[in-house]
Amino acid sequence: MFKCFQEAVALLALKSNGIATMCPPSCEPVSWGESMTPDVEYRRFLLRALLFGTLFSTVATAQLPPNHPSRQLAQTPPMGWNSWNKFACKVNEQLIRETADAMVSSGMKAAGYQYVNIDDCWQVSRDSQGNIVVDSRKFPSGIKALADYVHSKGLKLGVYTDAGRLTCQKRPGSYNHELQDAKTYAAWGVDYVKVDWCASKGLDPKVQYAKFRDALAKAGRPIVFSICNWGVDAPWTWGRTTGNLWRTTGDIEDKYDRMSVIGFSQNGLEKYAGPGHWNDPDMLEVGNGGMSHDEYQTHMTLWALLAAPLLAGNDLRSMTPETKEMLTNPEVIAVDQDGKGVQGHRVCDEGPLEIWVKPLGDGSQAVGLFNRGESAIKITLDFKMLGISSPIRVRDLWRHVDLGEARDSYTASVATHGVVLVKLSK
Ligand code: GAL
Repeated sequence: MFKCFQEAVALLALKSNGIATMCPPSCEPVSWGESMTPDVEYRRFLLRALLFGTLFSTVATAQLPPNHPSRQLAQTPPMGWNSWNKFACKVNEQLIRETADAMVSSGMKAAGYQYVNIDDCWQVSRDSQGNIVVDSRKFPSGIKALADYVHSKGLKLGVYTDAGRLTCQKRPGSYNHELQDAKTYAAWGVDYVKVDWCASKGLDPKVQYAKFRDALAKAGRPIVFSICNWGVDAPWTWGRTTGNLWRTTGDIEDKYDRMSVIGFSQNGLEKYAGPGHWNDPDMLEVGNGGMSHDEYQTHMTLWALLAAPLLAGNDLRSMTPETKEMLTNPEVIAVDQDGKGVQGHRVCDEGPLEIWVKPLGDGSQAVGLFNRGESAIKITLDFKMLGISSPIRVRDLWRHVDLGEARDSYTASVATHGVVLVKLSK
């Protein structure tokens, strides 16, 4: 059910005749639970989690402790690469070195990508002192040597662990070894740690992640702290006092349906994000082959409007020119990395169309016109919806084209599962 129900009915009629679709002012969904989109289940989950967090969290507005070394990190959403989406457990030091090389030679580093993150499966056991043991078949030179190599390229290295007893691939977790592991990472020169939530039965994420935060603070090296507990117990309500980013959902897949259910269900979480503390709708799948060009463009656009971390998840060594262009588009990255640090939100949701807006530091607004439907449509953005007056300068950010001044509204044709991303300025 929508506030603008009458308009919605009229619009749906228009749509079924294959004519232009327009989103009028004030047509926001009344609540997630009443959405007409396929992610209703997920929205219900988020709503419940939000309510839980609001009721039980007393720390929603606080920051990481002032002396915490991670406090100055991630002032804009972290950018980099992570091994999981493409390589899963098939990680080794050659892959990481070659990825660092490719990050530089492909222009990814110049575009802002910085972290080279090893996900699950680099660790095998603990020694008699409880120190984490690296898989020496896959990483014969050890993580310190790898960190040195990555640093020599002007990049940063990340590792993965788990706040529970085991990682999701059943390697040793950091439970009861938080300080020991944090010190090990600091000694190796690690710059980023992703901490998962498998094998955590009976544990409280707020307690365990705070323990990890304190361990990192004691270890003394500034390390970006990525909380990966898939939205359990509303990490957005306590994440800000704990880490630099927190996953809001279960895992992404290289499929339009899964990517879009995650991305389009982030509305409402924008108030929890800001410099140093970000919602994380999971890593990118761009270039992994399971989506069309338009679908990947939707993925990248949505993540940029959400001020989401941009962690590429493809093989950087063999990217097509098309993938490289999509991952490195400077105007799209600038939306994600905008210094104001405001996460975008949805202003309109009608049938297959959604309009999302992200206010930018220079007073302009980035606006995504999304078509979630199965055929191309025309989407009209009424400037009244954004509370801005005409005339407005419109620039297409994917195509790098100034479209001139528009009065009252702007209309674009949007391909199926595609998007048009514009910047509106006075
Ligand atoms: C999942 C996590 C993934 C990946 C995987 C590794 O829990 O969400 O991003 O890290 O574990 O086993």
